[in-house]
Amino acid sequence: MAALDDLREEIKRLEHDMRERLAAVDDGASLDAFRADFTGRKGRVSQLFKRLGRLDPSERSEAGRLLNALKKRASEAVALAETETRRERLAKRLGDERVDMSLPGVYSSFGHLHPLTLVQREIESIFMRMGFSVATGPEIETEYYNFDALNIPVEHPARADWDTFYVDESTLLRPHTSPVQIRVMEETEPPVRIICPGRCYRRDTQDATHSPVFHQIELLWVEEGLSLANLKYVLEIFTHEFFGEGYEMLFSGDYFPFTEPSVQVHIKAPGAADWLEIMGAGMVDPAVLEAVGYDTETYTGFAFGLGIERMAMLKYGIDDIRVFLTNDLRFIRQF
Ligand code: DAH
Repeated sequence: MAALDDLREEIKRLEHDMRERLAAVDDGASLDAFRADFTGRKGRVSQLFKRLGRLDPSERSEAGRLLNALKKRASEAVALAETETRRERLAKRLGDERVDMSLPGVYSSFGHLHPLTLVQREIESIFMRMGFSVATGPEIETEYYNFDALNIPVEHPARADWDTFYVDESTLLRPHTSPVQIRVMEETEPPVRIICPGRCYRRDTQDATHSPVFHQIELLWVEEGLSLANLKYVLEIFTHEFFGEGYEMLFSGDYFPFTEPSVQVHIKAPGAADWLEIMGAGMVDPAVLEAVGYDTETYTGFAFGLGIERMAMLKYGIDDIRVFLTNDLRFIRQF
């Protein structure tokens, strides 16, 4: 019986060691060593199995039972160690890769629309609420749409005011949005109620109120029974909606080949000393309506062309038109 008791002692010691070592397994290397030392072919469990042969046959079945139980526990310990190491490795990796969500993020600016675009859209929406729709035309325009159809024949001195940058003999960068009136009327039967925003080009020398590149919004309303009073009413509503209280509007006589009578519209900001011209306007000259085949006995119309930059300058108290083009973010960011 002494040999069996010895074996029991050995098993107890082995299990004690195994528990200690198991607790210390924390990485791949210590796991491999643990596996080799206990369940490996030359490990301590195998060594104990070798003792079976030396035991008295009467003790062998009991010893075999004890050793098999030990072997099973050793394999379980290895499996547990494997799981633990994997978990520890994962925990370590997660720890290393930890992202501190409390850190401030990387700021990215999305920017916003240019003040001229904002003003253009605001003007569009005011007129769209009044029943106008938005039309556009080309920036590179023919002499026909730019001059002839607008009642500005070749020899007419007014042509010189709008002679701009020619692309070839009869094509130029449009100096105003008025040609869009013709393009729309050619395609549409009256009534016509449109606004046409767009970029224009002039031989103007750059100064605080002039720019060779600028933007206009054209308006055209052709229907039965329209008069200058209707134009004034539309402009009053518009001025009120766009500028708010306190802005004053003034009509003065002017001349445009495509309107008769023609007026210039001026606006004065509250408290300002000077009036600023914001648009030319008038009743569409019958010659223009005739050029697109409208019946001038039935239809009359009015039109205007306003400068978007000037509207923005008045509204926001900007005193130099050049700031719209210089891309100075200190200016742009204020909108
Ligand atoms: N096209 C003119 C300009 O650029 C402005 C203008 C005046 C437009 C009278 C109109 C109008 O539609 O009726 O100076």
